[in-house]
Amino acid sequence: MEKKWWHDKVAYQIYPKSFMDSNGDGIGDLQGIISRLDYLKDLGVDILWLSPIYKSPLADEGYDISDYYAIDPRFGSMQDMEELIAEAKKRGMTVLMDLVVNHCSDEHEWFKKACEDPDGQYGKYFYLRDKDPEGKLPTNWRSYFGGPCWDELPGTDKLYLHVFHRKQPDLNWENPQLREEVYKNIRWWMEKGIGGFRIDAIINIKKPAVFHDYPADRDDGLSSVDNMLMEAEGIGEFLGEMRDKAFAPYDAFTVGEVFNEKEGDLPLFIGENGYFSTMFDFSVELYGRSGKGWFDMKRIDIDAFRNCMFGAHEKIGDIGFYSTIIENHDEPRGASRLLSDEIRCDASKKALAAVYFLRRGLPFIYQGQEIGMENKKIRSVQELDDISSIDSYEVARRAGLTNEEALETITFHSRDNARTPMQWSDEEHAGFTTGDPWLRENPNYRQINVQEQLGREDSVLSYYKKLIALRKDPAYKDTFVYGDFVPAEDCGHNVIAYLRKSKEQTILVAGNFGAQDVSLKLPRGADGSAFKGGKLLLDNGKEAYAEDGRLHLAGFAAAVVLLEA
Ligand code: GLC
Ligand code: CA
Repeated sequence: MEKKWWHDKVAYQIYPKSFMDSNGDGIGDLQGIISRLDYLKDLGVDILWLSPIYKSPLADEGYDISDYYAIDPRFGSMQDMEELIAEAKKRGMTVLMDLVVNHCSDEHEWFKKACEDPDGQYGKYFYLRDKDPEGKLPTNWRSYFGGPCWDELPGTDKLYLHVFHRKQPDLNWENPQLREEVYKNIRWWMEKGIGGFRIDAIINIKKPAVFHDYPADRDDGLSSVDNMLMEAEGIGEFLGEMRDKAFAPYDAFTVGEVFNEKEGDLPLFIGENGYFSTMFDFSVELYGRSGKGWFDMKRIDIDAFRNCMFGAHEKIGDIGFYSTIIENHDEPRGASRLLSDEIRCDASKKALAAVYFLRRGLPFIYQGQEIGMENKKIRSVQELDDISSIDSYEVARRAGLTNEEALETITFHSRDNARTPMQWSDEEHAGFTTGDPWLRENPNYRQINVQEQLGREDSVLSYYKKLIALRKDPAYKDTFVYGDFVPAEDCGHNVIAYLRKSKEQTILVAGNFGAQDVSLKLPRGADGSAFKGGKLLLDNGKEAYAEDGRLHLAGFAAAVVLLEA
């Protein structure tokens, strides 16, 4: 495999609206981010992915862009952005923008022009259809955020397609002129000195040649967008073109948000000369999904998490590099989702960190994950900001759940959990703002915050720092970055263990997510001889040692062990 500059790096996702507010308006901003660059540097991260900060009505919190060339004034100015890029660079860090080009905002000038003249050139930037006199919609596709995918093009007798929210009209990628606009924008940002992009919802850009209905899958008479995506052929032509015309000339780093790629497509997406540098492993996020809605999702436990992880590595082998996560701005907090109430503690949070972080792939940390932030208790539907949570709540109610039941299950999965203000300190509003935060903070900030954990040797934050340093340690780096991923044979209930193997080294990574002590058989070396013990490279404060061919882990212990014959 050809070595790339980003292979041995660590990435960090910033959700700007909730990261740090510099001017007291309750909204995080670019100056806020700049003020925390030293914190991020000290943590050891190299790549900063910013969720969207472009001009936007924020209907979907910035994933609805009204000007791809401007910063939303709530986040700052273009000058602030340039300062951020420069300040990051000074510290050896690089910034990724979020590329949201499946759709724009209905407040984008292209859309306004399409409304004025649907038959003109901007009409062709979107998917428009004539309104049917009987009111029948062109297709029965259900948008991701609920309701049909079609809405009236204001002031016209046409409809437009939106697979996400009504305020996010889909861009017509079949139109070469639109594609050139996208590439131009990518190049413009690369010229500004960013390192590349995280690529939003990209699988949706290709629609089937013929639009038609699919069998309804709920009693709203609509069908999931997944059906149309499955039928769409030929996304590779667009993605290959984007790579060649926009990314390759700058050697841009790109990470795809790819759900539902087709069987066998991995090499095309992230293999040698793939469309992207890497893409997220979403096997956990896909686990337990239900066609009925969030309320019907199955919760994941440690054993299922282990199966997801092992399955993903079996699928990818050495085709390429996944980007690995336990949470992001669209998901509940990893510590709440993957660790049930009975097993959630600082030690198990550290164990979770170790087992996901030392996988083969590029680790992403989502803001606040490094201090073990958790889901917040959402007490009423009025408290919800996220449009998809609100829709999912209504779906649950229509399916017959009581208010309490619907709230309990929807708020567990709500995207708002990840979007509460970053917990910097135990001061009012978690030190995030001196004003009124746009989204209520998690009241547990009094216990869980950066300030409290910074100097404390046994904090979750200190553990993340050690993990990052370990992955970068020249003595082991090659094994952590390029070594094979081999599941340990002997994983029992609540245990996750695997090996990272290079020619020279075998490193065992293991976490015990139960309260009981466990003991695992150490694997055999390449020559068939048993490993007898090993050197403990990192523990999490709970007893762990390798001896007589076995690894002993106390309850909630995690260990990284360099095995020795
Ligand atoms: C992606 C984003 C999500 C957004 C959606 C539509 O999934 O991560 O936050 O709502 O795309 O842009
Ligand atoms: Ca602000």
